[in-house]
Amino acid sequence: MLITNDYVRTWVEKIAQICRPDSIYWCDGSEEEEKRLTQVAVAEGILTPLNPTHYPNSYAFHNYPNDTNLHVITNYFCTESEEDASDALAWRNSTDMLQEVETLITGQLEGKVMYVIPYLMGPPRSPFAKSGIQLTDSLQVVLHVRKLSRMGDVAWKAIGEHNDFLRGVHVTGNLALDQRMVVHFPELNACYTLNTDYGGYAYQCKGSFAMVMGSAQAVQESWLAEHMMILGIENPSGEIHYIAGAFPGYCGKSNLAFLSPPLYAKGYRCFTVSDDSAWLHVGPDGRLWAINPDAGFYSVLSGTNKRTSPYAEKAIYEEVIFSNVAVDSDGHPWWQGKEEEIPETLTDWQGLPWNKNTNPESPFNNNGRFCVDADKFPSMSSHWNETTGIPISAIIFGGRSKQLDPLVREARTYEEGLFYGVSLFADREDRIDRNPFGMMDFLGSSLSRYLQNWLNIGGQLKEKPKMFRVNWFRQDNEGSYIWPGYRENFRVMEWILKRLENDAQVVDTPIGYIPDTSAINLEGIPVTEATMRNALLTVDKEDWQQETKAIRSFLEQFKNIPEEIYHALEQQEKSLS
Ligand code: GTP
Ligand code: MN
Repeated sequence: MLITNDYVRTWVEKIAQICRPDSIYWCDGSEEEEKRLTQVAVAEGILTPLNPTHYPNSYAFHNYPNDTNLHVITNYFCTESEEDASDALAWRNSTDMLQEVETLITGQLEGKVMYVIPYLMGPPRSPFAKSGIQLTDSLQVVLHVRKLSRMGDVAWKAIGEHNDFLRGVHVTGNLALDQRMVVHFPELNACYTLNTDYGGYAYQCKGSFAMVMGSAQAVQESWLAEHMMILGIENPSGEIHYIAGAFPGYCGKSNLAFLSPPLYAKGYRCFTVSDDSAWLHVGPDGRLWAINPDAGFYSVLSGTNKRTSPYAEKAIYEEVIFSNVAVDSDGHPWWQGKEEEIPETLTDWQGLPWNKNTNPESPFNNNGRFCVDADKFPSMSSHWNETTGIPISAIIFGGRSKQLDPLVREARTYEEGLFYGVSLFADREDRIDRNPFGMMDFLGSSLSRYLQNWLNIGGQLKEKPKMFRVNWFRQDNEGSYIWPGYRENFRVMEWILKRLENDAQVVDTPIGYIPDTSAINLEGIPVTEATMRNALLTVDKEDWQQETKAIRSFLEQFKNIPEEIYHALEQQEKSLS
């Protein structure tokens, strides 16, 4: 396709002049191109073909060993005025920072190809879809973004002669830990990713577009760009409810999005709409509607197997790119929890020989991921590509809590639901991550504006979604998970569906409604009603008094948090006193 758009051409030329690549390659997104570029990636040792019989057209990709997750990077949000700063990302003045970044990328693509990747976020022709162009020197990025977004001519068509596209530049650079950065310029609709090749940053369509830039635009335009999965559940009468869920990273979004009902749940079906992000807007009917901006999945492998996640397990043989997996001598990829028995010898996730008997450390990286087209998933909803999106009946917030949070609770009001979101946290090995709405790596505004936007949207909704908070990760004194999780989380979702019909018994507690111990189906799992009562659904008053204090001091770090949120906090404080 001939690109005649002068905004595009001028900008690409300008970046090429700064970065000085040897050549420029314009992607069309065709299958022929994918095959050809994949061959180049194999020849250059970027991708390793896996077993052609069991994993046809699938490849292993290895990141640089200390560039395999979201931890070590400076994430900037640059605006003209500090008043428009994000509460999660580092602020810099945009004029100064743009100059700095242009200096940093000068000459960085010498000897390299600069790929021009056009991509569309959201279904083609959807009024909610948005376009971006990412310039990159990384071939693996091209091949991943092709699966993760609608890439190529479909995006060139959508961009047409417009100037409305995210201008993204990615330079793999030297991968030095202290020089890694993502720099967002919301006012210029531009974003620079430097010195990292890790997907969470380098695939700009994901975090940078779907969430950071998305949420920056969303607060201006009165919609929502969220770190949410979306799951559809059809009951035996054929009615479908769509449930959106915000969880911080590594807290279970993808697994829930790929949920398949356990055997007892006859007549129920689950459908995947999104596993990581959602763009939501108020529909003409006054309900909340959502699209999935992504077109593929880049999801955690650890723990994925036939028993925990049968749909995902089925979808990850053909045309998959596996990141940071171990590989056996037959060319099969391996990760933590794939099977109980692992081979004696492997090439570990860093590409080094590993032997069970002589290497005490794990051959796996717990953030190994698979990347696959959404259409490859057997559970994809037939409505996932709908231009208007799908209507959301419920929103759930889920963190990781070892001792505190009950398995599930229901907010009594929309505002209390937002309070569930803002007080979300994940217990990590060495710390507690407080992570409002799971957005703390991605927030494109102040927390107060973000929350005010949620409140305004609530005001526009004729039918508000019911709000819940879940926690799959309560532990016993030995540190084992009490709730079996994974597919069995369906049981909690079933209770949520009943609550949407105002069915099922609840118990009122200071932190919301919790299920009556007999209200959740426990058939066929080793969890008794006594365990529910004494371990999974307990609300310890003293612990919660402490937690409520901690939430207050967390919120007080931010300016102008809306009074509705403080009101919900005060209600909780009162009912705990
Ligand atoms: P990101 O893609 O990093 O944002 O993570 P995510 O929120 O999509 O989480 P994901 O579903 O990939 O799960 C993260 C880790 O938690 C994986 O290792 C899962 O196997 C594990 N996990 C997910 N759901 C459950 C559950 O219900 N119980 C237990 N015990 N582990 C779970
Ligand atoms: Mn995920």
